[in-house]
Amino acid sequence: MQQFVLFVLFFAGFSHALKSCETCLGSGYHYCADSKLCNTPACVNTIKEVLNCPHAPNATYDDNEARTKWLPLFGAGATNAKMAQKCFDNNWPTLKVSKRFLVNCSDPSPILPPTECAMITAVDVSQKILVMTFRATLGNTQLGEEVLNFLVAKKQFFDVGKVFEFFYDAYLALWRAGLEQEIRSLKYRYPDYELWVTGHSLGASLASVGASWVVKAGIFNPDSVKVFTAGQPRTGDYNYALWHQNTFAYSFRVVHHHDIVPHVPLQNAPVDHDRMYHHRTEVWYNNDMSVGSSYQICPEADGLYCVNQQVDLSWNDHTHYFNTDLNVYGDLGCPKK
Ligand SMILES: *[C@@H]1O[C@H](CO)[C@@H](O)[C@H](O)[C@H]1NC(C)=O
Ligand SMILES: *[C@@H]1O[C@H](CO)[C@@H](O)[C@H](O)[C@H]1NC(C)=O
Repeated sequence: MQQFVLFVLFFAGFSHALKSCETCLGSGYHYCADSKLCNTPACVNTIKEVLNCPHAPNATYDDNEARTKWLPLFGAGATNAKMAQKCFDNNWPTLKVSKRFLVNCSDPSPILPPTECAMITAVDVSQKILVMTFRATLGNTQLGEEVLNFLVAKKQFFDVGKVFEFFYDAYLALWRAGLEQEIRSLKYRYPDYELWVTGHSLGASLASVGASWVVKAGIFNPDSVKVFTAGQPRTGDYNYALWHQNTFAYSFRVVHHHDIVPHVPLQNAPVDHDRMYHHRTEVWYNNDMSVGSSYQICPEADGLYCVNQQVDLSWNDHTHYFNTDLNVYGDLGCPKK
């Protein structure tokens, strides 16, 4: 009997320690990523937010597909319609440009001139895929504008949290310039196709917002949407990030080595950003990303993991993904590797 009581006491204590990360945090404790135990006194990597509870992604990351399909999509989004088609012909010949959209994307700013945002839609009827690919920041002016906007404002994104106003307004400008009509008619014409949404840098944030937008607008079911970004800045707040990762089974956020942009804006910056967060799943290449390079599938959304552990940050790492200079790749027609 005594033994039984001891056993029950022991088991009660232990089952507490063995709680899942979500249950542990829900009970007001912290979760220890190292020991995988709830509320252990000594812990190196403590998790305090459900967003960061360690999980494997629901989809499988494919490094070869990243190089042969998503990389040419980054290139195509960054150039004009003619060279975008060349990007496809060189790498993914069944994919055809549908439309290109170019708009003034910044708020009227008393300080800086208007800047332009661009994106391309495409269709592959043999593989049943629709594409939205967004262009990155063009030049230093636009980056300056973005950073200024980071310090200014956030906007409510439907009922799921907030995103930076710059990204919201830029996406809305594209949407109103005909993207909405284009997406609705593509969906009407090809109802059972997947939608692949992608971009690099600013384009990555627009891809995150765009994929979320077509789902919140009721046009696409998230199960048929794939999100794949590179060098994405923090785009939305905690609620947005949590909703995004609870909604999209396939969402990968690739980060190259010490790329500075995924650190922007800093989570612990002196200015209050309402703490903006990344959503899952970061794929971190701690190398030059040449063919055969290793990578980590990061178990936390935006914890002290992977690129967040780096302090020596690099702009050059931001412009080079998969060992390719993204400043020129699209304009060159995405030469096959
Ligand atoms: C953006 O605004 C400028 C200045 O008002 C104008 O010249 C330019 O044509 C606009 N660009 C687009 C894509 O509408
Ligand atoms: C991912 O998988 C988990 C566990 O099977 C499931 O509970 C969750 O709903 C899935 N998330 C998405 C976005 O499909």
